[in-house]
Amino acid sequence: MVKSPKKFLLLGLGGFIGSHLVGRLMTDPTLEVVGVDPCVTKIQHLLDRPNLKIHQRYLDDVLADGTLEAEIREADIVINLAAICNPAEYNTRPLATIKSNLFDAIPVVDLCAKYNTWVIQFSTCEIYGRTLSSYIEGDNYSDPALYVQNEETTPLVMGPIANQRWSYAASKTVLERYVYALGDEMKMPYTVIRPYNFFGPKMDFIPGRDGDGVPRVLACFMTALLDREPMKLVDGGNAFRTITSIHDAIDSMMLMVEKPEQAQFRIFNIGNKANELTVAELAERMRVIYAEVSGDPTYRDHPIEAVTSGDFYGKGYEDCDRRVPDIGLAETLLGWKPQHGIDGILRETIQYYYDAYSEKPRQLRAG
Ligand code: UGA
Repeated sequence: MVKSPKKFLLLGLGGFIGSHLVGRLMTDPTLEVVGVDPCVTKIQHLLDRPNLKIHQRYLDDVLADGTLEAEIREADIVINLAAICNPAEYNTRPLATIKSNLFDAIPVVDLCAKYNTWVIQFSTCEIYGRTLSSYIEGDNYSDPALYVQNEETTPLVMGPIANQRWSYAASKTVLERYVYALGDEMKMPYTVIRPYNFFGPKMDFIPGRDGDGVPRVLACFMTALLDREPMKLVDGGNAFRTITSIHDAIDSMMLMVEKPEQAQFRIFNIGNKANELTVAELAERMRVIYAEVSGDPTYRDHPIEAVTSGDFYGKGYEDCDRRVPDIGLAETLLGWKPQHGIDGILRETIQYYYDAYSEKPRQLRAG
């Protein structure tokens, strides 16, 4: 019988998912967590925990001086969350995207194979690319077989090379194939997670306040609301997304850790198909909830405007049209069932951003 891990190594623990995961792990004082991340602002409140040790350094650096190898040798489980995962960068910084998502991850999983350490590797739902429906003229999602995404049967369909948006998904695809091959040929225990738009507090930076550039859609819309500027709908906001609470996502990971035999040598979609909406609907819901949270009813009619993807993201952007996960595997093997509905997720997240940023003035950008 495979025992549940006690010693965790988290790569990228300072990010959105990592910060929530380490918070949950810290509720069990019998667990030991080592983390690697140059940025720890999201986990300041945990830094004095005796069972948490952090290397506040870049992955390249801990790899170069042997620290990473020593930590992987000691760990029962490695959870790799370190990567560029922001669509605005896939077509504007494709080299950095490919390096971060593929080449930086290879030495990590090679070391896991060397020491036979279980690795939970984060991938993406974006790996499915566009739905088969979207390639069939006139088909409007007529058949779930053409759009519902199953880990073991659905083909991975990405656009042409010049559409560099796919640099991220393609890197994750090769990484998944490499991890799978290490499991198959070298018996390295692995679990791959394909997340579906995890939302929650601390998800992204707010441009002009604590970061610069274009974050993911939730933070883009939050910025527009905070700054009283129009929310921008890329290409009409017709793309669909399924939104998953970060708390449900962390529950799924805790179940994996509790049930290694069910979780190992598997790829899991972690998403909530009940929470599907278009990006246009997301904008409308967010402005209504923001009106309630801020106590200012005028936000209910906050302006929403259309922009082209070329103007918003630059050339080489292409979107995933729809992402509906089949979560049968996670339900059956892990006993996981997402609990949080879309309005509760948005209310919690918007409240967090409102409390954290509404009193914080926008900074003038340097240069
Ligand atoms: C991204 C990543 O690529 C996924 O790997 C990751 O799993 C996912 O985020 C996530 O958060 O889990 P995506 O959903 O395309 O995927 O990222 P967003 O930037 O949040 O965009 C969602 C949709 O909103 C896209 O259709 C985009 O064009 C649109 N959008 C974005 C707007 O209409 N307006 C904006 O201001 C920003």
